[in-house]
Amino acid sequence: MTKRSTTGSDHSPFVFVLFGGTGDLAMRKILPALFAAHRDGLLAPDGRIVGVAQTALDTGGYLQWVREHVKPHVAGASIDDATWRSFLERIAYVELDASRPETYSVLRDALGTASGRRIFYLATGPALFVPICGALASAGLSEGSRIVLEKPLGYDLESSNAINDAVGQIFNEDQIYRIDHYLGKEAVQNLLALRFGNSLFEPLWRREWVESIQITVAEELGVEGRGNFYDQTGALRDMVQNHLLQLLSIIAMEPPGSMDADAVRDEKLRVLRALKPLPADEIRRSVVRGQYHPGAIRNTPVCAYHAEAGVRPGSTTETFVALKVEVENWRWAGVPFFLRTGKRLAGRVAEIVVNFRPVPHSALGPTALRPGSNRLTIRLQPNESIRLSALAKQPGMGMTLQGVHLDLAFDEFFQQDRMEAYERLLLDVIGGRLALFVRRDEQEAAWRWVAPIIEDWGTQASPPKPYASGTWGPAASSALLARHNTCWPEEEN
Ligand code: BG6
Repeated sequence: MTKRSTTGSDHSPFVFVLFGGTGDLAMRKILPALFAAHRDGLLAPDGRIVGVAQTALDTGGYLQWVREHVKPHVAGASIDDATWRSFLERIAYVELDASRPETYSVLRDALGTASGRRIFYLATGPALFVPICGALASAGLSEGSRIVLEKPLGYDLESSNAINDAVGQIFNEDQIYRIDHYLGKEAVQNLLALRFGNSLFEPLWRREWVESIQITVAEELGVEGRGNFYDQTGALRDMVQNHLLQLLSIIAMEPPGSMDADAVRDEKLRVLRALKPLPADEIRRSVVRGQYHPGAIRNTPVCAYHAEAGVRPGSTTETFVALKVEVENWRWAGVPFFLRTGKRLAGRVAEIVVNFRPVPHSALGPTALRPGSNRLTIRLQPNESIRLSALAKQPGMGMTLQGVHLDLAFDEFFQQDRMEAYERLLLDVIGGRLALFVRRDEQEAAWRWVAPIIEDWGTQASPPKPYASGTWGPAASSALLARHNTCWPEEEN
């Protein structure tokens, strides 16, 4: 394998302070990503990592904890002992009750002599965001620092505004890095390259040529020990408000003047603000919510959402959402965007399908008039790829048309390790690049758009529609597309 591009990496010294340092996210994502960046030689030699948590440990105990819990989550090639040891040398631990400002002197002392940019990563529940920021300010640690906020950032528009207001009292917007890890995925970066690095698609990327767009993020996993959190969140808040609307904004945005953070984020914001509002009757017609019932995933029986630990009896939290939305601007007016996400579905796939209009008149028989004959499928995961579907003539006599594909599988073409989303995003935080982080006004616009759905569901007596685990969701999701004369990709014959 060849080494991947490291353009944009820098070697500025830093101190990376990880609140929630013994939590699930630290263990599964953040520390493995920092290790990968260390292994790839992308971190400054004197960059330091400080784990912060309430667990009673000293640095030695924390390193032991990191060995046991983090190592298994490191992706890619086997871990070389010397590299692992040199990674551990970067790490220290501070025991601290993050909700008590009087304890922060320990942290200040620990950071005392460290040189370089201070980064505070809040891998904690959102309830701690404001207390931590306040305590950092009182301890004199906020000035010139960067703060990274994990989702969920609030529960609705109001609570997210409250957090943003409070954090904004202490940190300027250009110090705040709101993570949406989908923006760090290689494939999402590629979407920008595909759209803005080629002239091929741009003339077709509009209502005159595009009939509909579908965005699917499907998971086989259930709530995986997060029942308690998930039951208060649901798929709309967990996935649609952030990941899916971010994907939509990248698909639909105008070409930015540059890749500067605000140039990109201004264009995404315009899309989010142009999402057609959904009145209650439209919500009932065009938004489907579902909840998984027992079924099987890869032939293994799995339980109902209701039977998951931490889920309230009779819970009406949705584990599936499908909806239709339009973008009200000159480029996209009238083009339906169908979004779908769910847990315990028939496969793990994230993809975007751009369906082009059929030819206006076919001299070659009815096949050429069929919707979906010309389509671009951008597969984000697994196996990142781009497929262009078209019609060709079957060999032999006559003119019989048949669907064919041009395929680009990125793994095969580049034969390089992919960079994990968290590695890219953490390197961007360290390097001070904000383009892949969500600006406050984007987040507000997304919450504002989903708010009426949340409100309407709160008044609906009927529960979410059931679906068997291991299927593609409730029948109403297929019916939604059928009403628009289309179907989800797996429903095609
Ligand atoms: C997270 C959600 O943001 O994204 C999870 O909270 C979800 O519920 C996850 O499973 C999906 O991310 P990925 O990268 O595995 O597609």
